[in-house]
Amino acid sequence: MGILKSFFTNCAHPQGRMGRAMLRFMNLCHAPLTNWGLNLIDYQDGWTMLDIGCGGGATLKRLLKRSKDSQVYGIDISEESVAKARKVNAELLDKRVFVRQGSAEELPYEDGKFDLVTAVETVNFWPNLPDCLQEVCRVLKPGGKYAIMVEVVDNDSKWTDLCDGMTAYSPEQLQKLLADAGFVNIEIHRKKPSNAAIIGMKPLCI
Ligand SMILES: C[S@@+](CC[C@H](N)C(=O)[O-])C[C@H]1O[C@@H](n2cnc3c(N)ncnc32)[C@H](O)[C@@H]1O
Repeated sequence: MGILKSFFTNCAHPQGRMGRAMLRFMNLCHAPLTNWGLNLIDYQDGWTMLDIGCGGGATLKRLLKRSKDSQVYGIDISEESVAKARKVNAELLDKRVFVRQGSAEELPYEDGKFDLVTAVETVNFWPNLPDCLQEVCRVLKPGGKYAIMVEVVDNDSKWTDLCDGMTAYSPEQLQKLLADAGFVNIEIHRKKPSNAAIIGMKPLCI
């Protein structure tokens, strides 16, 4: 495996020294997409929020700033990501920020816990995405929002070839998958040709 491919394969599951470098890189490089996507949400004070595939924890910090007196949870399958996210959020760790290792396939949270769930540059790596989306719906409060942000929006083989374990979805495919999982009012927002946010709501009555 070439050095570039080894590095980018760490997007799927950061591990070791290269994984740590990738987490630093992603905390910086995903800032424009993440800030743009997070600004599409109308926040209220005191929200409880979850970032799935939290990587190096920069999104957790960004979420905290948007809702006063909020609590922010992060989950990631990678031990390296969890360690970095905890370090980046050390000041408020276990007070307002809670980070644990786990998968989107089986979220260790009770039904209806969250006002907002986010997923930045991560759904492309989730196995069995339809089941994962049902899990997201389960942990949201009725009326809660789910925001997916992605940079690769079409079948762009440049990235899927470079990064093992990655599936490219178009915004329309993600919109359909969200609808199939029970989400409503699903909007697609585009920033530039390769940046998209797909935001859906858990129905108020189900
Ligand atoms: C490309 S990185 C993005 C990290 C972060 N969201 C960001 O924007 O910088 C993808 C992250 O998703 C995590 N991930 C992959 N599959 C996952 C799963 N099934 N459940 C939870 N996290 C997962 C990876 O470990 C990795 O940290």
